[in-house]
Amino acid sequence: MTARSNADTLITVYGGSGFLGRHVVRALAKRDYRIRVAVRRPELANFLQPLGRVGQIHAVQANLRNAPSVEAAARDAEAVINLVGILAEGGKQRFDSVHTYGAEQVALAAKAHGARMVHVSALGADENSPAYYARSKAAAEKRVLAAQPQAVIMRPSILFGPEDDFFNRFATLARISPVLPLIGGGETKFQPAFVGDVAAAIADAVDGKLRAGTTYELGGPDVRSFKQLMQFVLATIERKRLLLPLPFFAANINAMFLQFAPSPLTLTPDQVEMLKVDNVVSEAANTEGRTLQAFGIEGEPIEAIVPSYLWRFRRAGQFRSRAA
Ligand SMILES: NC(=O)c1ccc[n+]([C@@H]2O[C@H](COP(=O)([O-])OP(=O)(O)OC[C@H]3O[C@@H](n4cnc5c(N)ncnc54)[C@H](OP(=O)(O)O)[C@@H]3O)[C@@H](O)[C@H]2O)c1
Repeated sequence: MTARSNADTLITVYGGSGFLGRHVVRALAKRDYRIRVAVRRPELANFLQPLGRVGQIHAVQANLRNAPSVEAAARDAEAVINLVGILAEGGKQRFDSVHTYGAEQVALAAKAHGARMVHVSALGADENSPAYYARSKAAAEKRVLAAQPQAVIMRPSILFGPEDDFFNRFATLARISPVLPLIGGGETKFQPAFVGDVAAAIADAVDGKLRAGTTYELGGPDVRSFKQLMQFVLATIERKRLLLPLPFFAANINAMFLQFAPSPLTLTPDQVEMLKVDNVVSEAANTEGRTLQAFGIEGEPIEAIVPSYLWRFRRAGQFRSRAA
């Protein structure tokens, strides 16, 4: 008996050109799926083509704020994946329009075309959170499940990998600033997950290996405080910087101005609110087996991956700065 091939199975990936998106596209391509990447500017998604065979991956135009474009992108798909998210609002890109309304449109499109759905939310999604980001993510989950009760929801902690926005941002900051701020004293806990592990989990969900209608919480093998993560960045890039505790109220005042600053300095008041709550997998998810580890992905630790792309922030690059 020959194994069934995925070559005729079409998967639509909304947000497939993003940081997590390119890893999900690669994971699906390896499993032989046909992939339609739905993005606002498909002409900028051509870099995805080499991740698959000729003709295996193609990009179409879709904006989550525009329901007909979302619906068109789901046609003939066996499953749809929603990876669209923003960290800060700007112009027409609002948390409620992109996260909540957008996710609902993907779920409705999936329902209309009889497709399964995997929706990527975030740890900390909470309808009672003071952070708008977290409330909009919680509202999105609710609307997705109302339209698609069988949807699989993934809530990752911060993601790391070569193009990440976390370690790269603080390494860039350490290169230009003598001080790294420890917002709220740097005590907030994180459970960083390797982007490749989360992509594999999403591909497993597409394969039908995860429980339908279930919310998974995805964290790596280690829990670290923000301060420990900053110490890790500094040790990795071999730089000494002052780690300056900044109480939440002071961070809030700074964020009033820094929300308009360019990266890596950007900090919004909403992000300060997010830092008040630990970003780790819950006890309930651990005991109910709704984690990466529960379905066999142990998860890469930061030490195994991050130095492979932060070396460029060292003074001597990949070469040893000091003689042994
Ligand atoms: N990165 C993390 O540490 C992390 C942690 C927890 C949860 N998450 C969640 O994981 C998901 C993926 O995150 P990421 O880091 O890969 O984000 P990302 O790199 O910013 O990618 C976001 C993707 O969404 C697309 N997009 C943005 N607005 C859109 C719109 N209105 N319509 C259609 N597409 C739109 C972007 O493409 P264009 O802008 O080119 O259209 C891009 O492809 C998000 O839901 C995020 O909230 C991420």
